[in-house]
Amino acid sequence: MSQSSHTLSAEPVQYTLFTRVFGGIDSPELKKKLESSLKDLVAPIERIFLNDAAATAAIERACVPQKAASFVSFSSDPVHMKRWELSADIRVIKPNLPGRPGIVEANLQSLTRDFGACVAIPLLYGSDFLNRYPELLDDFWKFDNNLFPLLMIGIPPWAPLKMVKEGRAARARILGEMEALYRRIDQYQRGVPVDFCADMSDVSSAPFERNKVYEREGWSFAERGTGDFAILWGQNANTHPVLFWFLAYVYSTPSLLDRLREEIAPDVHLSEASLPEITSMDLPALSMNCQLLKACIFETYRMVNEPTSIRYVARPITIDDGEFKHELKPSMFVSAPHALINQDPTVFAHPEEFDPDRFLEIDPDSGKLMARYGRLRPWGTGVSMCKGRTFAEKEIVSLGAAIICLWDIAPASGTWELPDMIPGTGVKSPVKDIRVVITRRSL
Ligand code: HEM
Repeated sequence: MSQSSHTLSAEPVQYTLFTRVFGGIDSPELKKKLESSLKDLVAPIERIFLNDAAATAAIERACVPQKAASFVSFSSDPVHMKRWELSADIRVIKPNLPGRPGIVEANLQSLTRDFGACVAIPLLYGSDFLNRYPELLDDFWKFDNNLFPLLMIGIPPWAPLKMVKEGRAARARILGEMEALYRRIDQYQRGVPVDFCADMSDVSSAPFERNKVYEREGWSFAERGTGDFAILWGQNANTHPVLFWFLAYVYSTPSLLDRLREEIAPDVHLSEASLPEITSMDLPALSMNCQLLKACIFETYRMVNEPTSIRYVARPITIDDGEFKHELKPSMFVSAPHALINQDPTVFAHPEEFDPDRFLEIDPDSGKLMARYGRLRPWGTGVSMCKGRTFAEKEIVSLGAAIICLWDIAPASGTWELPDMIPGTGVKSPVKDIRVVITRRSL
């Protein structure tokens, strides 16, 4: 997998995904356009999502402390709820009144993944896109949960299944909105009036740079929308389910929450009030100092991520594998399911246990504990390794730390019981959501 892309190429796999799953209409012209654009289309994503300083700056723009303070709003009226609360089946047990802190019940997976998406999507496409399309989050998860896995395993798109039909309808709505977004991006870039006078001022540089490449290579607006749907999916489909599992493990593992709160405290300052607010959050310091927090994220990857690198063999190559030799011939496909070792007891002792300390090692130079990936490969490998990994990890660090600092989360049933998991599109899905009780942390 560490071979150059001239030998092991991800491009044919990406084209198949693009046409089979994301809705691109297969044609020799489209294939040629994708081949001549792909490298230049990925570069603007790398500049924001892979570069450390840019990813930090993007997350700092997201006002995470303020948003996390409204993780739940204690409102039962959808008009006053935050967008991320709408699909979480919120039930206000006790309203939030002065001197009497509120209590709500909610579905943790829905709440967390929509919270993450509401933070991340505007950083890429601006707030107007999210505000203009109220069903975006529901459509996104319907596509991701229902349609994506079925199309990946080769179920034809015309299959008379409810999940396929609903998933395709959701995908069609997303593609329509992405196409309309690209028309607005193009108008704004050309300096002509923008449809609906939409505010484009907070759209990131990535879609504008990508639009120039799309324009150069003659992509239609519908094709541009499809091309960016793949990026919207990459940005949201894994990060926010990971955030959900991370919170589920942290809150359900005895004594871990207290250890994390202690570790985070120097880098996330809280007000003196009995129900504290975050007054400042030092994201670079959190990433550097909070090694237990990082180890918890790594252990969450180990428990729930299912990364696979699939490559097309473009040039013959022989791989030495101990006593074996593998002859890979051109036009073969190779697949590396990196998660196979994650549950192997010879690699990770007691793999069924959530044990973040397994990723902490003493750094020989500083003598301090450092979180190290070891044999974990959550981002795939080689040249086509994830281009959003820096951003994704910082996002989980900042959102995770903010929620941990501000909220107490307990199981509604009284006892933590994590649901069974089924395969997802990159991160395992729970067979059912976790019903939780959420209250503001009191100091
Ligand atoms: C926890 C969150 C995430 C996980 C677990 C994850 C995982 C992966 C994996 C396993 C791959 C395939 C690598 C391979 O083929 O070897 C990949 C590719 C990719 N990811 Fe991510 N990803 C995450 C977040 C993101 C984010 C936030 C973005 C930002 C847009 C992103 C953008 C991409 C892109 C563009 C590729 C294709 C890279 C290429 O072919 O050159 N990902 N990701």
